[in-house]
Amino acid sequence: LDNGLALTPPMGWLAWERFRCNIDCDNDPDNCISEHLFMKMADHMVSDGFLAAGYDVVSLDDCWMSHQRDNNGRLQPDPDRFPSGIKALSDYMHSKGLKLGIYEDYGNFTCGGYPGILGHLETDAQTFADWGVDYVKLDGCYANPDDMDQGYPMFGQYLNKTGRPMVYSCSWPDYQQNPNYNLIVPVCNLWRNYADIEDSWASVTDIMDHYADHQDQLSPLAGPGHWNDPDMLIIGNFGLSYEQSRTQMAVWAVLAAPLLMSVDLRTIRPEYRDILLNPAVIAVNQDPLGIQGTRVSKDNNIEIWTRPISPVHGDDHSFAVAILNRGDGGTPDNVELEPGKVGLNAVNGYNITDLFDKVTHGVVKPTDTITLQVNPSGVVLLGCVVMAG
Ligand code: GLA
Ligand code: GLA
Repeated sequence: LDNGLALTPPMGWLAWERFRCNIDCDNDPDNCISEHLFMKMADHMVSDGFLAAGYDVVSLDDCWMSHQRDNNGRLQPDPDRFPSGIKALSDYMHSKGLKLGIYEDYGNFTCGGYPGILGHLETDAQTFADWGVDYVKLDGCYANPDDMDQGYPMFGQYLNKTGRPMVYSCSWPDYQQNPNYNLIVPVCNLWRNYADIEDSWASVTDIMDHYADHQDQLSPLAGPGHWNDPDMLIIGNFGLSYEQSRTQMAVWAVLAAPLLMSVDLRTIRPEYRDILLNPAVIAVNQDPLGIQGTRVSKDNNIEIWTRPISPVHGDDHSFAVAILNRGDGGTPDNVELEPGKVGLNAVNGYNITDLFDKVTHGVVKPTDTITLQVNPSGVVLLGCVVMAG
């Protein structure tokens, strides 16, 4: 969507994967979906360096609403859990330099059974603008997928008509068998293509495989203002090891994916926070060229993914190269990398650095080889800066 927003993949925090539809504030006041939770997360976004690293959106997901619209047909938040209202919450975000994201659904109900948007498209767009919302995720439960090709663009027009810049995150293709991306790319800033992420390595690898298996169709869709969304980062939760967490971060960087953390920022362990905050890996994700990478080889357990990035010399790009070890044999694998065999053909070579471990490999020519040790279910992510002639 060419609205001047999301020129690099959005970065922020999204409630769903970690906090779900916990509305039990009586028994679980610190973890229920309430203004208290979002304000706490905002505080940590600022104090723990996430905002400075580029994560600037804090987003509601499902279950923030009252079950009833008000007398004017406007959505309202649950009065007990959001007593100050959504405008106060966006003011709080803005006072800290953050943005507020919100969630609705193109259907009769949200996935969690709260009021959907049908019959209220224009009202809800205006309500979000009036509240100072900066980012809207529009889900697709309880809707006819055939209606979405008209409905998502129509809501996008109403968002535009408010005059308030709002990133538009669509779940549209995820609900369709054969999505028509010619319709979706001009209408949405990002779109979910595939199943919800869960807190497990199996879920992360299933999603990675989906994007690799469909990369000929999906990768060309990405670019400044319009991104494929493989769903949230689950780093720092319960399901991924340290190595697996690096792998998710590396692959999401190569995929030019939105970086939407869903983790309790109050209790995240420092080594996981450091993965999320790694400036070199974030720089790959946020590369201004906005080219989505691909899996270029798969040899038993070893996969190589590459993404062309800046700087560019003549016809030659720099690259991010992720070497994945999908095996679980218990010991690291030694992998020989010959740049020319994975598409890195610049004659003057590449100055190669390991972006997680800060090892430098110096200048490597396309027919040279370097040997890398890749841990089980782990990754080596290389920054390969093309050398000028
Ligand atoms: C769907 C979406 C999730 C989340 C839930 C909320 O499953 O794909 O990302 O928003 O609904 O109910
Ligand atoms: C950069 C790197 C060095 C070296 C030179 C080569 O300065 O940091 O390790 O590779 O480039 O010009």
